[in-house]
Amino acid sequence: MNDDINSKVSPSDFEPYFKEDYFYFGDVVNLPEMSDRQTELIWELLSLGQGSSVLELGCGYGRITNRLAKKGAQVAGLDISPILLKEAEAGAAERDVNVEYVLGDMRSLPWRDRFDAAFLWYTTFGYFDDADNERVLREAASSLRKGGRLLIDHHNRVLLLRHKLPICNVWQRNNDVRIDILSNDVLSDRSHIERIIVRDGCVRRTHLSFRQYGFSEYVSMLRSAGFETVEAYGEEGGAFTSDSSRLMVVAYK
Ligand SMILES: C[S@@+](CC[C@H](N)C(=O)[O-])C[C@H]1O[C@@H](n2cnc3c(N)ncnc32)[C@H](O)[C@@H]1O
Repeated sequence: MNDDINSKVSPSDFEPYFKEDYFYFGDVVNLPEMSDRQTELIWELLSLGQGSSVLELGCGYGRITNRLAKKGAQVAGLDISPILLKEAEAGAAERDVNVEYVLGDMRSLPWRDRFDAAFLWYTTFGYFDDADNERVLREAASSLRKGGRLLIDHHNRVLLLRHKLPICNVWQRNNDVRIDILSNDVLSDRSHIERIIVRDGCVRRTHLSFRQYGFSEYVSMLRSAGFETVEAYGEEGGAFTSDSSRLMVVAYK
């Protein structure tokens, strides 16, 4: 990781959020059958086939990467959290698949012209200021071969803002509880999640903030980053409308 990046947004900003508690509640928040369905959708949206080389930026504990590898893709996963990457490696061993797991920062990637496809899944884009968010897109573009595809899955901010905020979500695993309180700042177009974990009798609070871009902003950023065409889909890969819960952007280099 280069020093310029470390001085701007330290990985420690997200560190408490993406640690062991994130993994602990993972299968409760995204049930295994949901992760299976999401893997199928990613396969389809990115037009993957046997042996396609694909990179997940912010792969977490390998929920999707290990499944894609099981389906026959050649997969690399990059994440900034050593704890989650260790779980990803354990998951790969359990499924008996090979995935290249790399500890790193998505704002500075070690690959050039290599992958058929790359993706940022499950609200893994927008964590930084605009300049660094655009830098992530440029790095993703550089890591793809000509004709490569990039997929970004995010909230549809139009629908989100129609809800009465804040939204509170609660998940339980055994006697432990995770509470997420999601709010939005209209002046900065950023959403904030306050997370409260009650686990083994201890309470921990963490926080994540991310920028919410509309589709036309994605188009302009992705074109500047080197992509030629950009498409929008809703959840399940259907048409994107103001009622879609997710915005899935597919860009072609
Ligand atoms: C919301 S999670 C999504 C994980 C995975 N994509 C999934 O669908 O299960 C976001 C992930 O991005 C990672 N992350 C955050 N900042 C990062 C950075 N600068 N570079 C690489 N990964 C980062 C976190 O550690 C976390 O694993």
